[in-house]
Amino acid sequence: MKKYICIMLPLITIFSMYVFAQSKKDVSIPSLNEAAPAFTAISTQGEVKYPNDFYNKWVIIFSHPADFTPVCTTEIWELAHHQDEFANLNTKLIVISTDGLNSHLEWIKSIESLEYKGMKPTKIKFPLISDVNMSISKMYGMQHPYENSTQNVRGIFIISPKGYIQYIAFYPSYVGRNINEIIRVLTALQESYVNDVLTPVNWQKGDDYLLLPPKSIEMSEKMKEKNDPNFYNYNWYMWFKKNNK
Ligand code: BEZ
Repeated sequence: MKKYICIMLPLITIFSMYVFAQSKKDVSIPSLNEAAPAFTAISTQGEVKYPNDFYNKWVIIFSHPADFTPVCTTEIWELAHHQDEFANLNTKLIVISTDGLNSHLEWIKSIESLEYKGMKPTKIKFPLISDVNMSISKMYGMQHPYENSTQNVRGIFIISPKGYIQYIAFYPSYVGRNINEIIRVLTALQESYVNDVLTPVNWQKGDDYLLLPPKSIEMSEKMKEKNDPNFYNYNWYMWFKKNNK
């Protein structure tokens, strides 16, 4: 019997450690171009239903680790100061964490009265979802157990008006996001969506676009023969389209 226990105990321990490690790895992050998971949730602005409440809008979902934390506070404050710019880009914002609704409501009050970077307080017009049971957080892969087992990581999901995820990014707790970069990516996505173009490295609004490469050198030469002033190239596969706006 003693011999049996001596053999089995280490095996059971190793197996339990393996199962624990596997369960930690069990993060399911949606793919780019996958339909964004639907949800209904309570928020600081009442019930939020995705996608039903967001018809024909771009949507950005931001997850954050916790209310009443300094980095998150600067991020939500900055979002609030850009919320009209997002609205002008036909974009609705949704913020989500695993904190309770009362915590969100109290935190919002504190952010709305925060005078920071020499700028006056502003009212937050977007909803903060309370995902206490982590159901939405898990669907979107916002829970990264090696980073934190109960709080969300900083996540960004940009979703097209047709409901497909176009951009995903995750940041660790100790690095705040760059809202200007998110606006740049959103603008690039919107312009490439409408004009069927690509955007080159470090593209900024107003810069020229790239085109999908011609299928052959012969096709590139035919494009060149057209002498269209709206297009120019560096080699046969790198064609630019002028941004005339
Ligand atoms: C913050 O937002 O400051 C923060 C959040 C989670 C852990 C550490 C810092």
